[in-house]
Amino acid sequence: MQTLHLTDSREDLQRAAALLRDGELVAIPTETVYGLAADALNGAAVAAIFKAKGRPADNPLIVHIAHRAQLDALVADIPPMAEALAQAYWPGPLTMIFRKAACIPNEVSAGLPTVAVRMPSHPIARQIIERSCPLAAPSANRSGIPSPTDAKRVAEDMDGRIAAVVDGGTCEVGVESTVVDVTGDRVRVLRPGAVTVEMLKQVVGEVEVDDAVLHQLKKHAVAASPGMKYKHYAPNARVVLVKGSPSAYAQYVNTHAADGVVALCFDGEESTLSVKALTYGTRNDHAAQAHRVFEALRELDECGAKIAYTACPSPDGIGLAVYNRLLRAAGFEVIELD
Ligand code: TXA
Ligand code: MG
Repeated sequence: MQTLHLTDSREDLQRAAALLRDGELVAIPTETVYGLAADALNGAAVAAIFKAKGRPADNPLIVHIAHRAQLDALVADIPPMAEALAQAYWPGPLTMIFRKAACIPNEVSAGLPTVAVRMPSHPIARQIIERSCPLAAPSANRSGIPSPTDAKRVAEDMDGRIAAVVDGGTCEVGVESTVVDVTGDRVRVLRPGAVTVEMLKQVVGEVEVDDAVLHQLKKHAVAASPGMKYKHYAPNARVVLVKGSPSAYAQYVNTHAADGVVALCFDGEESTLSVKALTYGTRNDHAAQAHRVFEALRELDECGAKIAYTACPSPDGIGLAVYNRLLRAAGFEVIELD
């Protein structure tokens, strides 16, 4: 299959929408990462997403909508706390898990009684949804590797496998949406993102953070969010997360310098290191770290890294999302200094 490379022109967005209405797969930009979209109510189209990504069939997808009114048909009920969160943070990087309506194909919910829904804020995503239909879309990477934050990375993974890629430049946020379960008594965070725990608390008071956000699931444990149990975001290089002060980190890296060792560090700290360094934002700028982290993980493989000693971000605000992704990229291999 020849993959079309589309722009954000009116004609191209119409073309992307027409392909989606016909049951084809189209990669689209969102404010978080690129998504690999299909008509959410077309089971066969959704099944093709799993094939193109090599995604395990038991990992459900997020349905993307452009207007609040589209939610009513997709879910069985809307709890008051979900209504409040939608009011506060939609459109934006927040996904909520509801009890599903009967129209949701099994391919979307992977057999679960629930469905995840989000309303992206990216103007291209919104225009394409408006001209087509609600769209099921996981991140547009091949399963297991870092999510793509520009159209070039999508093309590397998906050229020849999907009908089209729409180029919307670089994604502003850089990590995937916050996923919260709103089917219980309290809001529970299953995946941290740019809508932070503090922001959720401002609207609904108490918020729980699922154990799987910061800890490896025990063998045989049932994952609240099936995506949490798979190896994720991982480059070919072995990623090791190193916790400690800037000087302890530099000392650790320098004493472990060897062929194939690369440092994934903060901007401005490269000069303290005796190995090749890639950076992902300054130490205190969590938004910049989120914006860069997946691209930096992909760059590791391009420079032939075998081991990447990675400076650990502090887990506050959107830093929790960066930390969560790096923990998974590292397969939970963490070294604590100091
Ligand atoms: O920012 C994002 O959320 C991006 C853009 C494209 O919107 N999408 C994205 O999708 O990250 P994906 O498929 O890569 O991640 C969705 C996560 C997975 O961890 C999945 O297991 C979880 O959400 N999920 C989806 N439906 C669920 C459900 N019904 N119950 C629990 N977890 C669910
Ligand atoms: Mg993903």
